[in-house]
Amino acid sequence: MSEITLTRDPAHIRHGSSIGQPLTRRDGVLKVTGEARYAADNHPPKMLFAVLAVSHIARGRVASLDVAAARRHPGVVEVMTPQNRPMLAEDPDAKTNPFMFRMELLQNDSIRYANQAIAVVIAETLEAATEGAALLSPRYESEPARSTLDDAESYVPPAVGVGHPAVVAHGDAADALAHAAHAIEATYETPPQYHNPMEPHAIVASWNGDALSIDTPTQGLAMAQGRIAGLFGIAPEKIHIRSPFLGGGFGCKGLISGPQILGILAAKLVGRPVKLVLRRDQMYGPVGHRSASRQRLRMGAAADGTLTAIDHHARISTSTFDDFYEPAADASHSFYASPVIATSHEAVRLDIGTPLFMRAPGEATGSIALESAIDEIAEACGIDPLAFRLKNYAEVEPITGKPFSSKALRECYARGADRFGWSKRPLKPRQMRDENGFLVGWGMGTATFPALMFAGQARAVIRSDGSGVMETGAHDMGQGAWTALAQIAADSLALDLDRVEFKAGTSDLPDAGIAGGSAHTATAGVAIHNAGAAAVGKLAELATNDQRSPLFGAGNAGVVARDGRLFRRDDESRSESFGGILARAGLAEIEARGDGAMDPAAQTNYAMRAHGAVFAEVRVDPDLGQVRVSRMIGAFAAGRIVNPHLVRSQYLGGMIWGVSFALHEKAIVDHRTGRIMNANLAEYHVPVNADIPSMEALMIEEHDPHVNPLGIKGVGEIAITGSAGAVANAVWHATGVRVRRFPVAIEELVK
Ligand code: MOS
Repeated sequence: MSEITLTRDPAHIRHGSSIGQPLTRRDGVLKVTGEARYAADNHPPKMLFAVLAVSHIARGRVASLDVAAARRHPGVVEVMTPQNRPMLAEDPDAKTNPFMFRMELLQNDSIRYANQAIAVVIAETLEAATEGAALLSPRYESEPARSTLDDAESYVPPAVGVGHPAVVAHGDAADALAHAAHAIEATYETPPQYHNPMEPHAIVASWNGDALSIDTPTQGLAMAQGRIAGLFGIAPEKIHIRSPFLGGGFGCKGLISGPQILGILAAKLVGRPVKLVLRRDQMYGPVGHRSASRQRLRMGAAADGTLTAIDHHARISTSTFDDFYEPAADASHSFYASPVIATSHEAVRLDIGTPLFMRAPGEATGSIALESAIDEIAEACGIDPLAFRLKNYAEVEPITGKPFSSKALRECYARGADRFGWSKRPLKPRQMRDENGFLVGWGMGTATFPALMFAGQARAVIRSDGSGVMETGAHDMGQGAWTALAQIAADSLALDLDRVEFKAGTSDLPDAGIAGGSAHTATAGVAIHNAGAAAVGKLAELATNDQRSPLFGAGNAGVVARDGRLFRRDDESRSESFGGILARAGLAEIEARGDGAMDPAAQTNYAMRAHGAVFAEVRVDPDLGQVRVSRMIGAFAAGRIVNPHLVRSQYLGGMIWGVSFALHEKAIVDHRTGRIMNANLAEYHVPVNADIPSMEALMIEEHDPHVNPLGIKGVGEIAITGSAGAVANAVWHATGVRVRRFPVAIEELVK
């Protein structure tokens, strides 16, 4: 059994189905009152504090460390370096599958990027550990750092994203572009972005013999457990991970990171529980980031504005020692219909930490360039950007020609445009001013993201008191999974939400699959749905085969479950409660399991995606170039909406990241040293409340009978994809300046 029980008194009275209800987060009160216990809040007895010492150069080796000085410091218990780091069962540089990322675990003295761990200082207090780390005074042998997309020879990566081909040619792009009535070519640049969840990576690790007890945030309990098991050579069942709350993830907590493993190693070295928390600046390196990109878009259109060619080429970076290739150009596979689509990637190896998934990997990076280019070709054709998109959006999946399992994009365009007032938009830029004389511009973007599913499991129990339990090792990184999945659990068991104990967030529960790719609700939800249905089915079997039951002889399909009872379909006056059925059978409870996974037949026949459209208004100071987003409307269709309150928050969060992508976010690298100069939340700009205007997310109804039995598509990532481009296009419409380097800089608008 899990030792974490989060159930609280329900804040809402349910009427009918739990799915579809706009419940607030069930853990919300715990979070805002400070009762929610995050990983770093756990302090087992005798716990020590570990602090990373990190490299201040990006390339070279550690020539010396003053370990003696650190050790002498009062309170310091131990200093872990490559000399005394406990043995691992597996080389941290081994890679036997693409999800196994290489780690810096003090295997040697080499430095592959700035902020790489070079030692761990373990002390009785955080202060002593921090001071000890400062006393290490490392000396380095350094080599020049390669930090920009032009600092190394490029090559064609073996694959991009999660195993997609780096080069795709559908039709003859050169020929189509040469014969186009209208053509554009433009190059866009996006900066490196770093994950900044409010909660940095943290771990509290305790060894008990060869068993390991861990508090740490993760978006993938089972994968984390498996990776730790491999590195330490112990059985996964010996490792117990608790991750009930995450203060954000965005991809950087999808896989266990090097610093988390160092926390476990430190605990092993000193034989006491150890806590290790990354400082904000230490997040800029070892836990992934979104690669910088330079993207060249070429597009051709016929005289009437029909797209005839899209050619999208992206240059991206990875580290010198591992492979993750942001699939930026792949965005052009799915947004627009074009008889010719060519995409390609080239990569360079830099002295940086390995890039990783960041919210809408590929799609976010690629779509800001693609949506800007669509605006440019629409302008070349003299057509309104919405009219151009309505003419050219993909009716079936481009390249494969597969129909979509469902698609309400046209309605997203129409409803969003109507709400925004798009029909009043002047075609030419620099036509609108507000009462203060600021230039006003309107822009839009198309949004789409795949409706993915991974594999997950759940376990359902119905007890003789008529209550239920649902268990799945799901992850709530702040998106509300613990609420939405509980709603699905209640419906699957035909019980009120307050009659269901929903357990998630620990590694001893059934594997719910990774919380990524906007796939968690669908994956874990379908597993829950199937587990609940199987448990109710067992009850139906007990009752309909028992002569003493009023349901006898109805057969499993002849009964329906509702409000903790089974009813005969042909005579609803004959019914029996779950508890009654179990009591007569002499059972305290029954249990059943369920799986969630993609249906391969549906996958073969249909393309599955969520769709949307985003409209943005900006105001630009004509003298100072300062840009403010003043209004934003997004309209999204993503199948069945489990909880409109939570989904709205996901859409708004995505739209805000779109604003961030277009106007704010950028890691600034000192090219002399390879160090990031703004590795803090003061200078790494993200939007704050004052940057976010009136923002509205419309939920467009969509019934998808193919995507999965619940009709659920993901909502976590899609809203970035339309929003960044919409803001960029609005800046052009306000100013007449096409900024092609993001985030938009003031100096580009006043030159
Ligand atoms: Mo997300 S980048 O799939 O956590």
